[in-house]
Amino acid sequence: MNAGTSTDARTNAGWLARSRAAVFHPCTQMKVHETLPLVPIERGEGAWLYDFDGRRYLDAVSSWWVNLFGHANPRINAAIADQLATLEHVLLAGFTHRPVVELSERLSALTPRGLGHAFYGSDGASATEIALKMSFHAWANRGRPRKRGFVSVAGGYHGETLGALAVTDVPLFRATYEPLLARQATVPSPDARLARGGESPREVAERAARSLEAHLAAHHATTAALIVEPLVQGAAGMAMHDPHYLVRARELCTRYGVHLIADEIMTGFGRTGTLFACEQASIAPDFLLLSKGITGGYLPLACVLSTDDVYASFYDEDVARGFLHSHSYTGNALACRAALAVLDIFRDDDVIAANLGRAARFADRAATLAGHPKVRSFRHRGMIWAFEVTSERADFPRWFFGEALRREVLLRPIDRTVYFMPPYVTTEAEFGLLVDAVLAILDDA
Ligand SMILES: Cc1ncc(COP(=O)(O)O)c(C=O)c1O
Repeated sequence: MNAGTSTDARTNAGWLARSRAAVFHPCTQMKVHETLPLVPIERGEGAWLYDFDGRRYLDAVSSWWVNLFGHANPRINAAIADQLATLEHVLLAGFTHRPVVELSERLSALTPRGLGHAFYGSDGASATEIALKMSFHAWANRGRPRKRGFVSVAGGYHGETLGALAVTDVPLFRATYEPLLARQATVPSPDARLARGGESPREVAERAARSLEAHLAAHHATTAALIVEPLVQGAAGMAMHDPHYLVRARELCTRYGVHLIADEIMTGFGRTGTLFACEQASIAPDFLLLSKGITGGYLPLACVLSTDDVYASFYDEDVARGFLHSHSYTGNALACRAALAVLDIFRDDDVIAANLGRAARFADRAATLAGHPKVRSFRHRGMIWAFEVTSERADFPRWFFGEALRREVLLRPIDRTVYFMPPYVTTEAEFGLLVDAVLAILDDA
């Protein structure tokens, strides 16, 4: 290969041509890449990604919400390298290994009120699938097979495999596949932006909870579980709600005998300011779904934690009453070891406390954005900032993405919502660059 040709492995041009020819990229109309170039990334370090042409990009979305402690983090690297030399993987049916046992013990100790019995999958959607199947099966094992419906929150997102998509309410992802999806119920969102006539976020949450109450009162006999994204509905556009909704959801699920599934795939591991978002409502769900940040953004791993009661419903002489669900890479040793390194960092660096100070300093920097005339509903929780931009452009998300890249920032708006979800290693100066870049884009718009 010669320098300058379209297949040159040293340049962006070479990799983007080959990627377009060989890779079917996710969540993408591939034809878009005729005009919007892919960004080939050669390496990452801290909060930055570097392309083959020597340009850099601040990863302000933590690579689809997975990265916590930066790219190529030396501590996570070292843990994975050590594990690699010991055991990369062994099937988890009939076998076990040190990283999976230690991780399960430590997660159980960290989660609200004794959740445990860690069941592993790979991506977030597999955690959703596991929880839906497990909830239904647990009720069936208890002699309640009619409890097979699920209820989810308007605008909710729980993944894109068929079961997960059935409880997801994002038309862009769902509409095409509607004929394949089991019909499930949706209740109004507690999204604080839906306030009517001076309602407080708590009042919006209470109004949504009353709709949930009406639904459960009518349908609890055929409902297995409610699935919620605690505090922040990510794919809905970082829709934030008052913890009161979770308090009420817990109370109602208990009253009506319906499992509460907390999907903390995005909110878990400190994103909302506490290790798990449920802590801010002092509630414990029946199922806790974890993925994304669990390995610090290194390897696919998902985990479903559940109550002793759920676990006990499967424990029997009868094989068919067991939870006969598996994935080849269930409990992969390398992924579990990465997750253990992540938990070590949380403990050793007191990350939750450090993030509190970091978020307060970042919030000061972001305040200039809140007052911008094109910005609406500026909001912030933990290490997430979001706002809507007033814009007439039909191509706003794509246009904004391109403008941000030109300014060395990786941002992917959701419709008109621009959000920041930076890795926890982002410095104040880097956050300042991010805010300045967005101000410049808004001023140019
Ligand atoms: C709340 C929530 N649940 C589930 C998922 C699905 O995770 P994955 O994309 O890893 O399948 C996501 C992904 O964004 C998510 O934000």
